[in-house]
Amino acid sequence: MTANIATMAYIAAIILFILSLGGLSNPESSRRGNLYGIVGMAIAVLATVFGPRVTLGGIPYIVGALVVGGSIGLYAARKVQMTQMPELVALMHSLVGLAACLVGYASYVDTSIVLTGAEKAIHEVEIYIGILIGAVTFSGSVIAFGKLNGKIGGKPMLLPGRHWLNLAGLLGVIFFGVQFLNAPDINAGMMPLVVMTVIALLFGIHMVMAIGGADMPVVVSMLNSYSGWAAAATGFMLSNDLLIVTGALVGSSGAILSYIMCRAMNRNFISVIAGGFGTGGGSAPAAAGSGAQPAGEVTAISAVETAELLRNSKSVIIVPGYGMAVAQAQHTVYEITKFLREQGVNVRFGIHPVAGRMPGHMNVLLAEAKVPYDIVFEMDELNDDFPSTDVSMVIGANDIVNPAAEEDPTSPIAGMPVLQVWKAKTSIVMKRSMASGYAGVDNPLFYKENNRMLFGDAKKMLDEVLVALKS
Ligand code: TAP
Repeated sequence: MTANIATMAYIAAIILFILSLGGLSNPESSRRGNLYGIVGMAIAVLATVFGPRVTLGGIPYIVGALVVGGSIGLYAARKVQMTQMPELVALMHSLVGLAACLVGYASYVDTSIVLTGAEKAIHEVEIYIGILIGAVTFSGSVIAFGKLNGKIGGKPMLLPGRHWLNLAGLLGVIFFGVQFLNAPDINAGMMPLVVMTVIALLFGIHMVMAIGGADMPVVVSMLNSYSGWAAAATGFMLSNDLLIVTGALVGSSGAILSYIMCRAMNRNFISVIAGGFGTGGGSAPAAAGSGAQPAGEVTAISAVETAELLRNSKSVIIVPGYGMAVAQAQHTVYEITKFLREQGVNVRFGIHPVAGRMPGHMNVLLAEAKVPYDIVFEMDELNDDFPSTDVSMVIGANDIVNPAAEEDPTSPIAGMPVLQVWKAKTSIVMKRSMASGYAGVDNPLFYKENNRMLFGDAKKMLDEVLVALKS
C-alpha cells in the first residue's frame, strides 16, 4: 500500500470514528454508530499493517499478534456477563496504558531512530509524557477493575497527608524529567525513566484507592479519558497521525463524559480526585451488601398485590438499577410494560445517569429487551412527574432513589440528584433484602409510609407479577 493510499484510509477511518461517536450519543443511532466504529477500526488496522511503515518481513509477526489478541478479545467479549462489562472496560483501559508504557520504552531504546537537537528533545518529551500517562492509566485501571468486581473494597483509602504525597510525586516526576532530558545516553536516561514510571504507577494506585464508592462512575469515565490520552501520546511517539487523532477523540469524549457524570452526582472534578465521597462521614451508613438494618418498619408486598396495584394504575414509572442487570430481568420488564400499555396504562422509564455500573448501562439493557426509546426518559425529564404518578416501580435500584441525598445534609451522598420515586402515590421497591447499594448508604425510602417492598430476585418476582397480571 502506498503512503498516499494509507493516508486516505486514515482520513476515512478518522471520519468514521467521528460519525461513530456522533451515533453513540443517541440510543436510536447507537447501532449505526457502533458499525461506523467497527468499519473505521478495520480500515485503520488494515492501512497500518499493510501501510508503508511495515516491512514485508514484519507482517507475519503482526498478523500472529492480531490473531492471538483478537481471539482473546473475542473470547472475553462473548463470555462476559453484562454486569461484568465495567470491569472488562477497566481492564481494557489498563491494556492501553500498558501499551503506551511499552511503546515508550521501545521507542527510547530503538537505535534505528537517530535524532539530534530539538527533534531529539521533542521525541524524548513525548516518550516521558507517554510513559507517565500510560503508567497512571495502567495502575489506576487495575485498581478500578478490583473495585468494580468487589475484590478491593469500595471504601476510600485516605492516607495521612495524601495531598502532600501527590505533590511530592509530581515534584519527583518533574525532577526526574529534567534528569532524563539531560541524560547523555540511553544508559544514563534509563534510571530516571524507570523511577518516574514507578512514581506514576504508585500515583495511579493511590488516586483510585482514595476514591469513594459513589464516585466510581466518574473514575470509570476519567480512566476512559486517560486511556485516550495515553493512545494519543503513543501516536506522537510513533509519529502516527491516526493514533493521535483517535486518542484525542477518546480522550476528549471521556473528559466530556466525566463532566456529565460529575454534574449527575452534583460534584466537581477536583473534589472527586481528592476522594472520599459516598462512604463514611455521614449518618449511619451501612456497609455495602451488609444488610445492616436501621430503625423503622417496612411494609412488604406480594407479587399478586403488586400486579393488582399496577392493573389499577393510570400511570407507572419504572426505575431500573443495577439489580435489574444482575437478575437479567429486562425482558420480563418489557413483557409487563407491553401488557400494561395494551391495557391503556401510561408506562414510562426513568433513567438515572449513574444507574448500574457503567454509563448507559440501563439504556443498553432496555434496548436489548426492545423497550421503545420514546418511553425511556432521563432523570431530569421526568422527575417533576412523580407527584402525578400512581405507581413508581424500582427494580433493583437503591442509591439512585435514595431520598437522603436530598433530605439529609449529613448523608454521605447529600447533594446527589436522585429520582424522586417516593413522591408517587405508591412506590414499590423490588430487591432481595434490606442491604444497601453500591455507596453503602442506608435508604430511608424503604421506611416511607407509601412505600412497599417486594422482596426477591427481580427476575423471579417480575415473572410472578406477569403471571398474576395475565391471570
Ligand atoms: P445500587 O445502589 O448498587 O443498588 C442495587 C440494588 O440492587 C442493591 O441494593 C441490591 O439489593 C439490588 N439487587 C442486586 N441483585 C439483585 C437481584 N438479583 N434482584 C433484585 N435486586 C437486586 O444500584 P443503583 O441504584 O443502580 O445505583 C448505582 C450505584 O453504582 C451508584 O452508587 C453509582 O454511583 C455506582 N456506580 C455507577 C457506575 C456507573 S458509570 N453507572 C459505575 C460505578 C459505580 P439486594 O442485595 O437487597 O438485592
